[in-house]
Amino acid sequence: MRVEDLVYFCAPARLVMGAGCRAQLPALLHRLGYRRGLLVTDRFFTGATPWVDELVADARAHGVELLVYDGGVPDPTTTLCDAATAAVRERLGSVALDHVIALGGGSNIDLAKALCLTLPGGKPMRAFIGSIDAGTPILPLVAMPTTAGTGSEATPGAILVDPDNATKVAVMDNRLRPAVALVDPEFTYTCPQRVTADAGIDALTHAIESYLTLDSASFDLGGEADPGYSGRNALTMLFAHESIRLCGRYLLRSCQDGTDREARIGMSYASVYAALSYGSAGLNAVHGIAYAVAGRTHLSHGTTNAVMLPYVLDALADVRREDLLAIARLLEVSDRDPDIAVACVPGMVRELVAAVGLPTTLQACGIGQGDIDALVRDALAVTRLAKAFPVPDVAARYGAIVRNAWAGTLAAETQVPAQQRRVA
Ligand SMILES: NC(=O)c1ccc[n+]([C@@H]2O[C@H](COP(=O)([O-])OP(=O)(O)OC[C@H]3O[C@@H](n4cnc5c(N)ncnc54)[C@H](O)[C@@H]3O)[C@@H](O)[C@H]2O)c1
Repeated sequence: MRVEDLVYFCAPARLVMGAGCRAQLPALLHRLGYRRGLLVTDRFFTGATPWVDELVADARAHGVELLVYDGGVPDPTTTLCDAATAAVRERLGSVALDHVIALGGGSNIDLAKALCLTLPGGKPMRAFIGSIDAGTPILPLVAMPTTAGTGSEATPGAILVDPDNATKVAVMDNRLRPAVALVDPEFTYTCPQRVTADAGIDALTHAIESYLTLDSASFDLGGEADPGYSGRNALTMLFAHESIRLCGRYLLRSCQDGTDREARIGMSYASVYAALSYGSAGLNAVHGIAYAVAGRTHLSHGTTNAVMLPYVLDALADVRREDLLAIARLLEVSDRDPDIAVACVPGMVRELVAAVGLPTTLQACGIGQGDIDALVRDALAVTRLAKAFPVPDVAARYGAIVRNAWAGTLAAETQVPAQQRRVA
């Protein structure tokens, strides 16, 4: 127990998990009273898997008609959302939908969340950035992730690219949390290595970042009556703890051998548990700086998180020492000396990033030394994340983190004898 906690915990209304659990969906749709839905996915799933045809046929057998939209792409833009809204509304004519289903990675789930907002009224996506009026009709969402993962099946937000200024914008509201998160690890078995690595590091980042974020007792809710994010508490930390342990055990394995069923299932659980943590606690510097890196490099979400995570951990050694020691033990650092164990964590995480084939410095991402100041400025501008970084001097720390990430410098490394450094 943490006596100061102020818990505000939100999750999807139903979480259905397990290998093969997708077979339960048609009967569940019928039970929930749904009769006509939109299935949002991309061409990989309509062209290379039987899942879309199977679901459409089984749903029909249960009295539920599904229209398929397979125009999803990685990192959807607000422009794509508007084009998809117009195309679907034209196909529907006067017929009304009563639910939306997403099949895919975080990108398709986010596009589907956006369509839950735009389809009922046909308004452009921009109308919902910032805040969403209390009376706004929002279609219920069934989210089926095929990566492990972004955790978007459990979060209140859709992350979209704004093509006008090349940044990502968040559309946030607890009413966007899926009514059903259906996590069938079998969907992830076809993930290519790079997608597995990106998504796996994203899950680890969610778990670690939310485990170390600002306490709920100190979190500024800004007067929000129904906050999406509200700081860490004992409940979110429970999920983060288990997610970090599972990532330590299965992330590398799932990347090295995509047919390793236990590792795939382990990472599906790790991803959902991480989302049940960060989906209420929130995130901070890794994502804040990663968004700024992605704005310049257009590298994937997982890659930009991966490059920043070790350096942010390195910067938290003074304020989150006990929690970093817990992470060290979850990652099976065996050194008994707690100072050395804590100092091992950033280096271990960086070795893991390298072992799954992702870049470990900002230089390797194509960031020039002359870009550093602007990058720090852009990252600090994402105030909803910067304000949750649990240090007294956020701007100075962001600056140091970016400089270290550019040069590949870990302060903690100097405290760890070379023979004690190893991959998680
Ligand atoms: N809303 C949120 O809470 C949240 C959180 C984190 C990330 N995100 C967003 O999620 C996106 C990243 O999502 P992602 O990492 O899941 O990747 P993705 O959804 O962008 O998919 C990447 C590629 O992998 C393919 N793919 C996905 N699953 C596959 C499978 N099982 N087999 C074969 N190919 C497959 C897709 O077709 C796509 O081409 C980013 O846009 C990011 O901003 C959202």
